[in-house]
Amino acid sequence: MGFPRFVRLSVLVIALVTAAVGCSDAAEDSDQGAAADRGRIGLALPTTVSARWILDGENLEYEFDRMGYTTELQYADDDVAKQVSQVEAMIDSGARALVVGAVSATALTDVLAKAAAADIAVIAYDRLIRDTADVDYYATFDNTRVGVLQGTYLVNALGLKSGGGPFTIELFAGAADDNNSKLFFDGAMSVLQPYLTDGRLVVRSGQTSFEEVTTRRWSAAVAKTRLTRLLDEHYASARLNAILSPNDDLTRGLLEAVQAAGYRGSTLPKVTGQDAELASVRLIASGEQGSTVFKDTRELAKVAAQMAHAVLTDQKPEVNDTAQYHNGVKVVPTYLLQPVAVDKSNLQQVLVESGYYSAEQVAS
Ligand code: GAL
Repeated sequence: MGFPRFVRLSVLVIALVTAAVGCSDAAEDSDQGAAADRGRIGLALPTTVSARWILDGENLEYEFDRMGYTTELQYADDDVAKQVSQVEAMIDSGARALVVGAVSATALTDVLAKAAAADIAVIAYDRLIRDTADVDYYATFDNTRVGVLQGTYLVNALGLKSGGGPFTIELFAGAADDNNSKLFFDGAMSVLQPYLTDGRLVVRSGQTSFEEVTTRRWSAAVAKTRLTRLLDEHYASARLNAILSPNDDLTRGLLEAVQAAGYRGSTLPKVTGQDAELASVRLIASGEQGSTVFKDTRELAKVAAQMAHAVLTDQKPEVNDTAQYHNGVKVVPTYLLQPVAVDKSNLQQVLVESGYYSAEQVAS
C-alpha cells in the first residue's frame, strides 16, 4: 500500500524545493519563525565613540538574527589588546564566523590563525585586516572615493575651479593603524594636490604628509588640540579658510577649536566630514559643518551578513572587487558599496527621504 509513485515523487520534489529555498533565503524562513539555529556569529567592532559603529552593531545583529543566527557583539574601545582578547573569547566559545571591524589593521594575525585552525570564517568589516591569509572576505565602502568626495567638496566650496584663491587649508587624517585612513587621505589629496602645487591652496603649518596629519585613535580631542596649536602658531594674522577632516567626530572637535579662536558664521572654514552622524547632520543643516559622506550602514551590514552566510552554507559570496585590496599576503575578495556626498543641498533627500533619519531627528 502507499501513494502512487507520481504522488510520492511530487512530495519528494516539493520537499527538496522547500529545503533548497529555505537554504538560499534564510531570511524568509526566519521571518516565518521557522529558522533553524544556525549557530553563533562573533561581531567585533572597534569603538562606540563614532556613533556610526553603534548603528553598525545594531544592523549586524538585525541581519544575522533574521537569518537564524545568534550573535555576540563586542566593542573594543579602540584598544588593540582588548579586541584581540575579545576575538579570542569568541573563537573559544564556538563562533562559526567572525565579522571584524579592526582597531589595528596589523594586530590580528595570530588570533586569526587560531580562527582558521578552528575553521571559522572571517569577514573584514569596513576596515581591511592586513598581514594574514586568514581573512576570507571584505565588506566595505569605496574608501578612496570617500576621500575624493571630501576633496571635491572643498574644491567646489572654495570656488577653486573658477579661479578662486589663494586659500589656506589644514589637513587631518584618521588613525595611522586603520587601513582606511591612508585611502581616505590619498583620495582627498588626489583632488587637492594640483591646487597645493599651483599655490592656490596653502598649508601654513607645512604639514602635508600623511604621517604628519594622522590622529591617534581617531580622537576628536587629539585633533582639536592639534588644530588649536596650529591656529596659535600659524593663523594669528591670517584666516583659515578650509579644513580636510576625515570624519564627523573629528569635524565637531575641529569646529570647537575654530569657534574658540573666534570664527563664526560665514568666517568658519569650509570643512568636510564622513559618516553622516546625527550631531553633524544637524550642524550641516545649521550651516556650521560644510559636508559629510554618507555610508549606509544598513547596506554594509547586509553585505557582511550575506557574505558570512554564504561561506557557512558553502556558497560563493557576491564580490565586486578582486584587485584593489591586497592585504600584504593576498588580495582579499571585496564587496565595495558606494559612498554619497552630502551637504545642505541634498541632506533632506539622501538622509531623510531614505528613512535613515527622521525629519524630527534632524530638526531637534
Ligand atoms: C573608519 C571608518 C569611518 C570612521 C572612522 C572612525 O575606519 O571607515 O567611517 O567611522 O573609522 O571610527
